[in-house]
Amino acid sequence: MPTRRELIKAGIYGSTALLGLTGPRLDIWALKDGGSNGGFGGSPRVAPFQVDLPIPTVKTPVPLASLPGAPVFNDGQPTDYYSSTEQVALQQILPGQKTLVWTYDGTYPGPTYTPRLNRRIVIRQTNHLPANTVVHQHGGHTQAASDGSAFPDEEIPVGGFRDYIYDNDSDVGAFLWYHDHTLDFTGHNVFMGLSGLFLLGSDSIDALNLPSGPFDIALVFQDRTFDANNQLVYNPFDHDGFLGDTFLVNGAVQPRLRVGNRKYKFRTLNGSNARFYEISLSSGRPFQIIGSDGGCLRAPFETTSYRLAPAERVEIVVDFSFYAPGPNTHVFLNNTMIQTSGRGPDGVDPTQPTPLVRFDVLDSVADNSTVPAILETGLPTFNPAASVITREFDFVRSQGAWQVNNRFFDPNRVDAKVKLNTTEIWKLKNGGGGWFHPIHIHRNEFYILDRNGIPPVGPEAGLKDVFVLNPGDEVRVITSYTGAKQLGKYVFHCHNIEHEDMRMMGRFDVVL
Ligand code: C2O
Ligand code: CU
Ligand code: CU
Repeated sequence: MPTRRELIKAGIYGSTALLGLTGPRLDIWALKDGGSNGGFGGSPRVAPFQVDLPIPTVKTPVPLASLPGAPVFNDGQPTDYYSSTEQVALQQILPGQKTLVWTYDGTYPGPTYTPRLNRRIVIRQTNHLPANTVVHQHGGHTQAASDGSAFPDEEIPVGGFRDYIYDNDSDVGAFLWYHDHTLDFTGHNVFMGLSGLFLLGSDSIDALNLPSGPFDIALVFQDRTFDANNQLVYNPFDHDGFLGDTFLVNGAVQPRLRVGNRKYKFRTLNGSNARFYEISLSSGRPFQIIGSDGGCLRAPFETTSYRLAPAERVEIVVDFSFYAPGPNTHVFLNNTMIQTSGRGPDGVDPTQPTPLVRFDVLDSVADNSTVPAILETGLPTFNPAASVITREFDFVRSQGAWQVNNRFFDPNRVDAKVKLNTTEIWKLKNGGGGWFHPIHIHRNEFYILDRNGIPPVGPEAGLKDVFVLNPGDEVRVITSYTGAKQLGKYVFHCHNIEHEDMRMMGRFDVVL
Protein backbone atom coordinates (compact mmCIF):
# COMPACT_ATOMS: atom_id res chain seq x y z
CA MET A 1 0.00 0.00 0.00
CA PRO A 2 1.56 3.31 -1.07
CA THR A 3 1.48 6.12 1.48
CA ARG A 4 -0.62 9.23 1.09
CA ARG A 5 2.55 11.13 0.28
CA GLU A 6 3.56 8.80 -2.53
CA LEU A 7 0.11 8.99 -4.09
CA ILE A 8 0.07 12.76 -3.98
CA LYS A 9 3.47 12.84 -5.63
CA ALA A 10 2.13 10.62 -8.38
CA GLY A 11 -0.80 13.00 -8.77
CA ILE A 12 -3.37 10.26 -8.47
CA TYR A 13 -4.47 10.59 -4.88
CA GLY A 14 -8.23 10.74 -4.61
CA SER A 15 -8.84 9.72 -8.17
CA THR A 16 -11.79 7.42 -8.64
CA ALA A 17 -9.68 5.59 -11.21
CA LEU A 18 -8.03 3.97 -8.24
CA LEU A 19 -11.27 2.42 -7.08
CA GLY A 20 -11.04 -1.29 -6.75
CA LEU A 21 -7.30 -1.24 -7.31
CA THR A 22 -6.08 0.09 -4.02
CA GLY A 23 -8.29 -1.36 -1.33
CA PRO A 24 -10.69 0.17 1.17
CA ARG A 25 -8.37 2.85 2.50
CA LEU A 26 -8.64 4.82 -0.71
CA ASP A 27 -12.22 4.01 -1.57
CA ILE A 28 -13.33 6.56 0.99
CA TRP A 29 -12.54 9.41 -1.38
CA ALA A 30 -15.14 8.16 -3.78
CA LEU A 31 -17.81 8.97 -1.19
CA LYS A 32 -17.16 12.62 -1.77
CA ASP A 33 -15.99 14.52 -4.78
CA GLY A 34 -14.11 11.76 -6.57
CA GLY A 35 -11.34 14.14 -7.48
CA SER A 36 -9.42 17.21 -6.59
CA ASN A 37 -12.04 19.59 -5.39
CA GLY A 38 -15.30 18.74 -7.15
CA GLY A 39 -15.61 22.16 -8.72
CA PHE A 40 -15.74 23.75 -5.30
CA GLY A 41 -16.22 27.50 -5.48
CA GLY A 42 -16.86 28.62 -1.91
CA SER A 43 -19.28 27.46 0.74
CA PRO A 44 -22.90 28.64 0.72
CA ARG A 45 -23.12 31.86 2.72
CA VAL A 46 -24.82 31.48 6.09
CA ALA A 47 -26.02 34.36 8.26
CA PRO A 48 -24.32 34.15 11.67
CA PHE A 49 -25.98 33.82 15.10
CA GLN A 50 -29.09 32.06 13.76
CA VAL A 51 -28.72 28.97 15.93
CA ASP A 52 -28.00 28.30 19.59
CA LEU A 53 -24.63 26.91 20.57
CA PRO A 54 -25.00 23.12 20.56
CA ILE A 55 -23.97 21.40 23.78
CA PRO A 56 -22.83 17.83 23.01
CA THR A 57 -24.60 15.14 25.05
CA VAL A 58 -22.76 13.62 28.00
CA LYS A 59 -22.16 9.88 27.77
CA THR A 60 -23.57 7.61 30.44
CA PRO A 61 -22.01 4.23 31.34
CA VAL A 62 -23.50 0.91 30.26
CA PRO A 63 -23.55 -2.37 32.21
CA LEU A 64 -20.49 -4.53 31.75
CA ALA A 65 -22.83 -7.39 30.80
CA SER A 66 -23.86 -5.47 27.68
CA LEU A 67 -20.29 -5.66 26.31
CA PRO A 68 -19.45 -9.34 25.80
CA GLY A 69 -15.72 -9.94 25.96
CA ALA A 70 -14.88 -6.58 27.49
CA PRO A 71 -11.81 -6.50 29.76
CA VAL A 72 -12.47 -7.08 33.46
CA PHE A 73 -10.06 -5.92 36.16
CA ASN A 74 -9.28 -7.37 39.56
CA ASP A 75 -7.04 -4.60 40.89
CA GLY A 76 -9.71 -2.97 43.01
CA GLN A 77 -9.76 0.13 40.77
CA PRO A 78 -13.30 1.21 39.87
CA THR A 79 -14.14 0.95 36.14
CA ASP A 80 -16.98 2.46 34.12
CA TYR A 81 -17.91 0.99 30.74
CA TYR A 82 -19.14 2.89 27.70
CA SER A 83 -20.24 1.95 24.23
CA SER A 84 -19.88 4.15 21.14
CA THR A 85 -20.54 3.55 17.46
CA GLU A 86 -18.68 5.27 14.67
CA GLN A 87 -21.21 5.87 11.95
CA VAL A 88 -22.19 8.24 9.17
CA ALA A 89 -25.07 10.58 9.91
CA LEU A 90 -27.00 13.36 8.23
CA GLN A 91 -26.85 16.48 10.36
CA GLN A 92 -28.21 19.95 9.91
CA ILE A 93 -25.27 22.36 9.86
CA LEU A 94 -26.38 24.75 7.12
CA PRO A 95 -29.94 26.12 7.44
CA GLY A 96 -32.55 23.67 6.20
CA GLN A 97 -29.93 21.29 4.77
CA LYS A 98 -28.59 17.88 5.68
CA THR A 99 -24.84 17.33 5.58
CA LEU A 100 -23.23 13.92 5.68
CA VAL A 101 -20.83 13.68 8.61
CA TRP A 102 -18.70 10.97 10.15
CA THR A 103 -19.57 10.65 13.81
CA TYR A 104 -19.15 8.96 17.12
CA ASP A 105 -22.68 7.92 18.07
CA GLY A 106 -24.48 9.83 15.35
CA THR A 107 -23.55 13.40 16.24
CA TYR A 108 -20.83 15.85 15.25
CA PRO A 109 -19.06 16.72 17.50
CA GLY A 110 -19.22 13.40 19.28
CA PRO A 111 -20.60 12.92 22.78
CA THR A 112 -18.68 14.23 25.79
CA TYR A 113 -17.03 11.87 28.27
CA THR A 114 -16.77 13.09 31.87
CA PRO A 115 -14.44 10.63 33.60
CA ARG A 116 -12.85 11.29 37.00
CA LEU A 117 -9.16 11.30 37.82
CA ASN A 118 -7.97 7.81 38.84
CA ARG A 119 -11.24 6.17 37.87
CA ARG A 120 -10.72 3.92 34.89
CA ILE A 121 -13.09 3.81 31.96
CA VAL A 122 -13.39 1.41 29.07
CA ILE A 123 -14.93 2.58 25.80
CA ARG A 124 -15.99 0.03 23.23
CA GLN A 125 -15.72 1.73 19.85
CA THR A 126 -17.61 -0.08 17.11
CA ASN A 127 -16.75 0.95 13.57
CA HIS A 128 -19.71 1.24 11.21
CA LEU A 129 -17.92 3.72 8.97
CA PRO A 130 -16.83 2.78 5.43
CA ALA A 131 -13.13 2.81 6.35
CA ASN A 132 -10.82 1.53 9.07
CA THR A 133 -10.35 3.97 11.94
CA VAL A 134 -8.22 4.57 15.03
CA VAL A 135 -9.49 6.48 18.09
CA HIS A 136 -7.01 8.57 20.05
CA GLN A 137 -7.70 10.23 23.38
CA HIS A 138 -5.57 13.35 23.10
CA GLY A 139 -3.70 14.33 26.26
CA GLY A 140 -4.30 11.11 28.14
CA HIS A 141 -1.75 9.08 30.06
CA THR A 142 -2.89 6.02 28.17
CA GLN A 143 -1.56 2.48 27.84
CA ALA A 144 0.04 1.95 24.44
CA ALA A 145 -2.50 -0.59 23.24
CA SER A 146 -5.30 1.93 23.85
CA ASP A 147 -3.51 5.10 22.77
CA GLY A 148 -4.65 5.03 19.16
CA SER A 149 -1.28 6.22 17.93
CA ALA A 150 -1.66 5.92 14.16
CA PHE A 151 -0.19 2.41 14.02
CA PRO A 152 -1.82 0.23 11.37
CA ASP A 153 -2.06 -2.68 13.83
CA GLU A 154 -4.27 -0.51 16.03
CA GLU A 155 -6.96 0.07 13.42
CA ILE A 156 -10.55 -0.87 14.06
CA PRO A 157 -11.60 -2.74 10.91
CA VAL A 158 -14.85 -1.84 9.19
CA GLY A 159 -17.58 -3.68 11.09
CA GLY A 160 -15.27 -4.48 14.00
CA PHE A 161 -14.74 -2.99 17.43
CA ARG A 162 -11.96 -2.21 19.88
CA ASP A 163 -12.08 -1.76 23.65
CA TYR A 164 -10.07 1.28 24.69
CA ILE A 165 -8.88 1.33 28.31
CA TYR A 166 -8.27 4.73 29.88
CA ASP A 167 -6.67 4.58 33.33
CA ASN A 168 -7.06 8.34 33.80
CA ASP A 169 -4.02 8.24 36.07
CA SER A 170 -2.57 11.62 35.04
CA ASP A 171 -1.32 13.95 37.74
CA VAL A 172 -4.29 16.30 37.52
CA GLY A 173 -7.69 16.67 35.89
CA ALA A 174 -7.70 18.40 32.49
CA PHE A 175 -9.67 19.49 29.45
CA LEU A 176 -8.86 16.71 26.99
CA TRP A 177 -10.43 15.51 23.77
CA TYR A 178 -10.56 12.53 21.47
CA HIS A 179 -10.36 12.25 17.71
CA ASP A 180 -9.54 9.95 14.85
CA HIS A 181 -5.87 9.07 14.32
CA THR A 182 -5.80 6.75 11.31
CA LEU A 183 -2.37 6.73 9.66
CA ASP A 184 -2.39 8.96 6.53
CA PHE A 185 -6.14 9.70 6.85
CA THR A 186 -6.50 11.60 10.12
CA GLY A 187 -7.01 14.93 8.34
CA HIS A 188 -9.91 13.66 6.28
CA ASN A 189 -11.49 11.73 9.14
CA VAL A 190 -11.35 14.58 11.66
CA PHE A 191 -12.58 16.99 8.98
CA MET A 192 -15.58 14.72 8.38
CA GLY A 193 -16.50 15.02 12.06
CA LEU A 194 -14.61 12.50 14.16
CA SER A 195 -13.82 14.45 17.33
CA GLY A 196 -15.32 14.92 20.78
CA LEU A 197 -14.55 16.03 24.33
CA PHE A 198 -13.01 14.14 27.22
CA LEU A 199 -13.35 16.23 30.38
CA LEU A 200 -11.19 14.62 33.03
CA GLY A 201 -12.64 15.92 36.30
CA SER A 202 -10.97 15.93 39.69
CA ASP A 203 -11.76 16.77 43.31
CA SER A 204 -9.10 19.45 43.35
CA ILE A 205 -10.70 21.28 40.40
CA ASP A 206 -14.16 20.93 41.97
CA ALA A 207 -12.87 22.39 45.23
CA LEU A 208 -11.86 25.61 43.45
CA ASN A 209 -15.44 26.86 43.17
CA LEU A 210 -14.90 27.98 39.59
CA PRO A 211 -18.03 28.48 37.43
CA SER A 212 -19.46 24.98 37.02
CA GLY A 213 -22.51 23.09 35.78
CA PRO A 214 -24.41 25.18 33.21
CA PHE A 215 -21.78 27.93 33.58
CA ASP A 216 -18.93 25.66 32.43
CA ILE A 217 -19.15 25.42 28.64
CA ALA A 218 -16.81 23.92 26.06
CA LEU A 219 -16.29 25.72 22.74
CA VAL A 220 -14.76 23.68 19.92
CA PHE A 221 -13.52 25.82 17.01
CA GLN A 222 -13.42 24.13 13.61
CA ASP A 223 -13.35 25.49 10.07
CA ARG A 224 -15.10 23.69 7.27
CA THR A 225 -15.99 24.03 3.60
CA PHE A 226 -19.19 22.93 1.93
CA ASP A 227 -19.95 22.34 -1.73
CA ALA A 228 -22.98 23.54 -3.66
CA ASN A 229 -24.87 20.48 -2.39
CA ASN A 230 -24.15 21.48 1.21
CA GLN A 231 -21.72 18.60 1.67
CA LEU A 232 -18.34 18.76 3.37
CA VAL A 233 -15.57 18.99 0.81
CA TYR A 234 -12.02 18.08 1.70
CA ASN A 235 -9.21 18.60 -0.76
CA PRO A 236 -6.78 15.72 -0.34
CA PHE A 237 -4.21 17.47 -2.55
CA ASP A 238 -3.99 20.48 -0.26
CA HIS A 239 -1.44 18.93 2.02
CA ASP A 240 -0.01 22.25 3.24
CA GLY A 241 -2.85 22.32 5.72
CA PHE A 242 -6.61 22.42 5.27
CA LEU A 243 -8.34 25.81 5.72
CA GLY A 244 -12.13 26.06 5.66
CA ASP A 245 -14.10 29.18 4.82
CA THR A 246 -16.91 28.62 7.36
CA PHE A 247 -16.42 28.88 11.12
CA LEU A 248 -18.15 26.30 13.27
CA VAL A 249 -18.34 26.16 17.04
CA ASN A 250 -19.51 22.83 18.46
CA GLY A 251 -20.65 21.92 14.96
CA ALA A 252 -22.80 25.02 14.34
CA VAL A 253 -22.02 28.00 12.12
CA GLN A 254 -21.19 31.02 14.31
CA PRO A 255 -23.82 30.25 16.98
CA ARG A 256 -25.25 32.41 19.77
CA LEU A 257 -25.34 31.65 23.47
CA ARG A 258 -27.73 33.16 26.00
CA VAL A 259 -25.84 34.05 29.16
CA GLY A 260 -26.44 35.75 32.50
CA ASN A 261 -24.52 38.70 33.94
CA ARG A 262 -22.09 36.48 35.86
CA LYS A 263 -18.87 34.51 35.42
CA TYR A 264 -18.64 31.65 32.95
CA LYS A 265 -15.89 29.17 32.39
CA PHE A 266 -15.25 28.47 28.71
CA ARG A 267 -13.07 25.57 27.70
CA THR A 268 -11.76 26.50 24.28
CA LEU A 269 -10.36 23.86 21.94
CA ASN A 270 -8.91 24.44 18.52
CA GLY A 271 -10.22 21.34 16.76
CA SER A 272 -9.26 22.62 13.30
CA ASN A 273 -6.87 20.75 11.04
CA ALA A 274 -4.50 23.63 10.30
CA ARG A 275 -6.09 26.95 11.27
CA PHE A 276 -4.73 29.12 14.09
CA TYR A 277 -7.00 31.43 16.09
CA GLU A 278 -6.45 34.55 18.16
CA ILE A 279 -9.29 34.75 20.66
CA SER A 280 -10.58 37.95 22.25
CA LEU A 281 -13.80 39.65 23.36
CA SER A 282 -15.42 42.32 21.18
CA SER A 283 -15.63 44.57 24.26
CA GLY A 284 -11.86 44.47 24.60
CA ARG A 285 -12.31 43.56 28.29
CA PRO A 286 -9.70 41.33 29.92
CA PHE A 287 -10.52 37.82 31.12
CA GLN A 288 -8.72 35.17 33.13
CA ILE A 289 -6.89 32.22 31.61
CA ILE A 290 -7.15 29.44 34.18
CA GLY A 291 -6.12 26.33 32.26
CA SER A 292 -3.83 25.00 29.55
CA ASP A 293 -3.73 21.67 27.69
CA GLY A 294 -2.90 19.55 30.73
CA GLY A 295 -4.96 21.09 33.50
CA CYS A 296 -5.47 24.23 35.52
CA LEU A 297 -2.63 26.71 35.85
CA ARG A 298 -1.01 27.30 39.20
CA ALA A 299 -2.46 30.82 39.17
CA PRO A 300 -4.86 32.69 36.85
CA PHE A 301 -3.37 34.80 34.08
CA GLU A 302 -5.20 37.94 32.97
CA THR A 303 -5.16 38.83 29.28
CA THR A 304 -7.25 40.36 26.52
CA SER A 305 -6.41 37.75 23.85
CA TYR A 306 -4.56 34.51 23.25
CA ARG A 307 -3.41 32.38 20.37
CA LEU A 308 -4.85 28.91 19.98
CA ALA A 309 -3.00 26.56 17.61
CA PRO A 310 -4.45 23.30 16.28
CA ALA A 311 -5.18 20.87 19.17
CA GLU A 312 -4.32 23.41 21.88
CA ARG A 313 -6.72 24.05 24.74
CA VAL A 314 -7.08 27.14 26.88
CA GLU A 315 -9.66 27.48 29.65
CA ILE A 316 -10.88 30.96 30.44
CA VAL A 317 -13.24 32.66 32.86
CA VAL A 318 -15.24 35.52 31.36
CA ASP A 319 -17.18 37.83 33.67
CA PHE A 320 -20.36 39.17 32.06
CA SER A 321 -21.27 41.20 35.16
CA PHE A 322 -19.65 44.20 33.45
CA TYR A 323 -22.49 44.29 30.93
CA ALA A 324 -26.06 45.42 31.68
CA PRO A 325 -28.42 42.57 30.76
CA GLY A 326 -30.79 43.41 27.95
CA PRO A 327 -31.99 42.36 24.50
CA ASN A 328 -29.30 44.43 22.81
CA THR A 329 -26.38 43.44 25.00
CA HIS A 330 -24.22 41.32 22.74
CA VAL A 331 -20.62 40.40 23.38
CA PHE A 332 -18.75 38.55 20.65
CA LEU A 333 -16.01 36.02 21.02
CA ASN A 334 -13.78 37.01 18.11
CA ASN A 335 -11.03 35.46 16.06
CA THR A 336 -8.60 38.11 14.87
CA MET A 337 -6.01 35.76 13.37
CA ILE A 338 -5.63 36.17 9.63
CA GLN A 339 -4.62 32.99 7.85
CA THR A 340 -4.60 32.46 4.11
CA SER A 341 -2.50 29.32 3.76
CA GLY A 342 -1.80 26.08 5.55
CA ARG A 343 1.75 27.24 6.04
CA GLY A 344 0.64 29.09 9.15
CA PRO A 345 -1.02 32.30 10.32
CA ASP A 346 -0.29 35.61 8.60
CA GLY A 347 -0.73 37.56 11.84
CA VAL A 348 -3.26 39.19 14.11
CA ASP A 349 -5.42 42.02 12.78
CA PRO A 350 -7.77 43.43 15.45
CA THR A 351 -9.51 45.50 12.77
CA GLN A 352 -10.71 42.36 10.99
CA PRO A 353 -12.47 40.26 13.64
CA THR A 354 -14.44 37.17 12.74
CA PRO A 355 -17.08 36.59 15.41
CA LEU A 356 -17.15 32.93 16.43
CA VAL A 357 -19.88 33.11 19.08
CA ARG A 358 -22.34 35.84 20.05
CA PHE A 359 -23.04 35.97 23.77
CA ASP A 360 -26.49 37.44 24.43
CA VAL A 361 -26.36 38.88 27.94
CA LEU A 362 -30.03 38.64 28.78
CA ASP A 363 -30.42 37.38 32.33
CA SER A 364 -29.69 38.63 35.82
CA VAL A 365 -28.18 35.67 37.63
CA ALA A 366 -26.56 35.27 41.04
CA ASP A 367 -22.92 34.23 41.09
CA ASN A 368 -21.19 32.49 43.98
CA SER A 369 -18.27 31.27 41.89
CA THR A 370 -14.74 32.56 42.33
CA VAL A 371 -11.41 32.58 40.53
CA PRO A 372 -9.01 31.82 43.37
CA ALA A 373 -5.50 33.29 43.32
CA ILE A 374 -4.09 29.77 43.60
CA LEU A 375 -5.64 27.22 41.26
CA GLU A 376 -4.20 23.71 40.83
CA THR A 377 -2.02 22.61 43.74
CA GLY A 378 -1.44 19.08 42.43
CA LEU A 379 0.76 20.03 39.48
CA PRO A 380 3.89 17.88 39.06
CA THR A 381 7.40 19.33 38.95
CA PHE A 382 10.12 18.00 36.67
CA ASN A 383 13.70 18.76 37.58
CA PRO A 384 15.98 19.66 34.63
CA ALA A 385 18.99 18.51 36.66
CA ALA A 386 17.46 15.02 36.77
CA SER A 387 17.20 14.76 32.98
CA VAL A 388 19.07 11.68 31.74
CA ILE A 389 19.24 12.79 28.11
CA THR A 390 18.53 15.77 25.86
CA ARG A 391 17.07 14.59 22.58
CA GLU A 392 16.99 16.81 19.52
CA PHE A 393 14.29 16.74 16.89
CA ASP A 394 14.39 18.95 13.82
CA PHE A 395 11.15 19.60 11.99
CA VAL A 396 12.06 20.51 8.45
CA ARG A 397 10.56 20.91 5.01
CA SER A 398 11.95 18.24 2.70
CA GLN A 399 10.97 16.28 -0.41
CA GLY A 400 7.73 18.22 -0.87
CA ALA A 401 6.64 17.45 2.66
CA TRP A 402 8.01 17.70 6.18
CA GLN A 403 10.34 15.44 8.08
CA VAL A 404 11.56 14.88 11.61
CA ASN A 405 15.35 14.54 11.69
CA ASN A 406 15.35 14.03 7.92
CA ARG A 407 13.01 11.06 8.00
CA PHE A 408 9.36 10.39 7.33
CA PHE A 409 7.38 8.42 9.91
CA ASP A 410 7.78 4.68 9.69
CA PRO A 411 5.54 2.85 12.16
CA ASN A 412 8.14 0.08 12.37
CA ARG A 413 11.10 2.32 13.17
CA VAL A 414 11.75 3.39 16.76
CA ASP A 415 13.08 6.96 16.78
CA ALA A 416 13.64 7.17 20.54
CA LYS A 417 13.77 4.66 23.36
CA VAL A 418 12.74 6.26 26.62
CA LYS A 419 13.43 4.48 29.90
CA LEU A 420 10.50 4.20 32.26
CA ASN A 421 10.70 6.46 35.31
CA THR A 422 13.29 8.79 33.82
CA THR A 423 13.13 12.50 33.11
CA GLU A 424 14.05 13.74 29.63
CA ILE A 425 14.49 17.09 27.93
CA TRP A 426 13.54 17.29 24.29
CA LYS A 427 14.85 20.12 22.16
CA LEU A 428 12.58 20.66 19.16
CA LYS A 429 13.58 22.91 16.31
CA ASN A 430 11.76 24.32 13.31
CA GLY A 431 13.87 24.54 10.18
CA GLY A 432 11.91 27.61 9.10
CA GLY A 433 10.83 28.40 5.56
CA GLY A 434 7.75 30.14 6.90
CA TRP A 435 6.15 26.93 8.18
CA PHE A 436 4.43 26.74 11.56
CA HIS A 437 4.31 23.35 13.25
CA PRO A 438 2.12 22.74 16.32
CA ILE A 439 3.97 19.79 17.85
CA HIS A 440 2.12 17.23 19.96
CA ILE A 441 3.73 14.52 22.09
CA HIS A 442 1.64 11.58 23.23
CA ARG A 443 1.51 9.85 26.65
CA ASN A 444 2.72 12.65 28.90
CA GLU A 445 1.95 16.23 29.69
CA PHE A 446 5.11 18.30 29.87
CA TYR A 447 6.40 21.76 30.68
CA ILE A 448 8.05 24.12 28.25
CA LEU A 449 11.45 25.01 29.72
CA ASP A 450 12.13 27.78 27.26
CA ARG A 451 11.26 29.06 23.82
CA ASN A 452 14.32 30.51 22.07
CA GLY A 453 15.91 30.75 25.49
CA ILE A 454 13.01 32.58 27.13
CA PRO A 455 10.89 30.92 29.86
CA PRO A 456 7.17 30.70 29.02
CA VAL A 457 4.38 32.81 30.54
CA GLY A 458 0.59 32.43 30.77
CA PRO A 459 -0.91 29.24 29.40
CA GLU A 460 2.48 28.16 28.02
CA ALA A 461 3.74 27.99 31.60
CA GLY A 462 1.14 25.34 32.46
CA LEU A 463 1.10 21.65 31.59
CA LYS A 464 1.16 21.25 27.83
CA ASP A 465 0.85 18.53 25.24
CA VAL A 466 0.92 20.76 22.13
CA PHE A 467 3.06 23.79 21.46
CA VAL A 468 3.81 25.77 18.33
CA LEU A 469 7.18 25.74 16.68
CA ASN A 470 7.07 29.09 14.91
CA PRO A 471 9.41 29.38 11.93
CA GLY A 472 12.97 29.14 13.21
CA ASP A 473 11.94 28.41 16.81
CA GLU A 474 13.80 26.22 19.23
CA VAL A 475 11.76 24.96 22.18
CA ARG A 476 12.90 22.77 25.06
CA VAL A 477 10.33 20.66 26.92
CA ILE A 478 10.67 18.41 29.94
CA THR A 479 8.68 15.54 31.40
CA SER A 480 9.05 12.41 33.52
CA TYR A 481 8.02 9.11 31.95
CA THR A 482 6.33 7.58 34.97
CA GLY A 483 3.55 4.98 34.77
CA ALA A 484 4.47 1.29 34.63
CA LYS A 485 1.22 0.51 32.80
CA GLN A 486 2.17 2.85 29.97
CA LEU A 487 4.94 0.87 28.28
CA GLY A 488 5.32 0.41 24.55
CA LYS A 489 4.99 2.49 21.42
CA TYR A 490 3.81 6.08 21.16
CA VAL A 491 4.11 8.92 18.66
CA PHE A 492 4.87 12.60 18.51
CA HIS A 493 3.95 14.66 15.48
CA CYS A 494 2.90 17.92 13.94
CA HIS A 495 -0.78 18.56 14.72
CA ASN A 496 -1.29 20.46 11.50
CA ILE A 497 -3.07 17.27 10.56
CA GLU A 498 -2.15 17.46 6.89
CA HIS A 499 1.52 17.60 7.89
CA GLU A 500 0.92 14.65 10.19
CA ASP A 501 -0.72 12.71 7.37
CA MET A 502 2.31 13.46 5.21
CA ARG A 503 4.20 11.65 7.99
CA MET A 504 5.73 14.47 9.96
CA MET A 505 5.72 12.13 12.90
CA GLY A 506 8.12 10.09 15.01
CA ARG A 507 7.77 7.00 17.16
CA PHE A 508 9.08 6.69 20.71
CA ASP A 509 8.92 3.59 22.84
CA VAL A 510 8.80 3.64 26.61
CA VAL A 511 10.79 0.64 27.79
CA LEU A 512 11.96 -0.95 31.03
CU1 C2O B 1 -4.46 15.00 18.90
CU2 C2O B 1 -1.56 12.32 18.00
O1 C2O B 1 -3.14 13.65 18.35
CU1 CU C 1 -2.51 12.96 21.36
CU1 CU D 1 3.54 21.01 10.65
